[in-house]
Amino acid sequence: MIIVKDIHKSYGSLEVLKGISLEVEKGEIISIVGASGAGKSTLLHIIGTLDRADAGTIEMNSVNVRKLSDKKLAAFRNKHIGFVFQFHHLLPEFTALENICIPGFLGRRNKREVERKALDLLNFMGLKERSHHKPNELSGGEQQRVAVARALINNPDVILADEPSGNLDSASAVELHNLFFSLRNSFNQTYIIVTHNFDLANMADRKLTIRDGVIEKASA
Ligand SMILES: Nc1ncnc2c1ncn2[C@@H]1O[C@H](COP(=O)(O)OP(=O)(O)OP(=O)(O)O)[C@@H](O)[C@H]1O
Ligand SMILES: [Mg+2]
Repeated sequence: MIIVKDIHKSYGSLEVLKGISLEVEKGEIISIVGASGAGKSTLLHIIGTLDRADAGTIEMNSVNVRKLSDKKLAAFRNKHIGFVFQFHHLLPEFTALENICIPGFLGRRNKREVERKALDLLNFMGLKERSHHKPNELSGGEQQRVAVARALINNPDVILADEPSGNLDSASAVELHNLFFSLRNSFNQTYIIVTHNFDLANMADRKLTIRDGVIEKASA
C-alpha cells in the first residue's frame, strides 16, 4: 500500500531524516515513536505529501507521489489521504456536520452524498446528536472524533495521525484509540500514527522507532 524508500530531509545543516525506508500493508496500523525532535512529524508530512523530501521515493497505491505536479498532488491527497492532528483544526464558525463535509465539497462531490456520508460517520462515532453543534460546544474528545470523521469523509485509503490523542484526557484517548481500530476493522484503511502514548503505540500491528534519523527497529 505504502512504500517509502530512503527518505532524506534536512533543514539547513540539520539532517533530520537520514534514509528512512518502510512499507505498510493495506489495512495495517503502524505506530511511529521516537524522542521529541526525532523527525516523526517531518516524516509524516512527507508521507502525506504536505512536504517534499530532499531525496527518496514514496509510492502509494502504486503511484509515485514525488512525480506528481502540485495540482495533481493536491487532488491525490484530497482523495486518498486523511489527516488527524494533535489539535483538531476544526473551523469554529461551522457545525460538526459542516466541518466533516468540507473536504468532500473540496473534492467536488455531490452535496447530498457527502452529507449522508458525514451523518453515517457521526452515527458510527456516537455523535449523531451533536451534529449541529459548533466545535466550542463539544468536548475535546468529541472534537477529535469529529476531526477523525472529517479525515474519513472522502473514503481515504490512508489515515495519517500526528499525536491524535496528545491533547485528550486518558479516557477520551482510550476511546479515540479504540475508534481507530474499529474503523480499520470496518473499512480496512491503513493507519500511520505518530504518538508519545505508550499504550496506543503498543496497540498497533507494528511499532517503529525513529532515532538518529533512521528507523531503529521494528517489533511486532
Ligand atoms: N520547518 C522547519 N524548519 C527548520 N527546522 C525544522 C522545521 N521543521 C522541523 N524542524 C526541526 O526538525 C527536527 C524534527 O522535527 P519534527 O517536528 O519532525 O520532530 P518530532 O519527532 O515530530 O518531535 P515532537 O515529538 O516534539 O513532535 C526538529 O529538530 C525541528 O526543530
Ligand atoms: Mg511532532
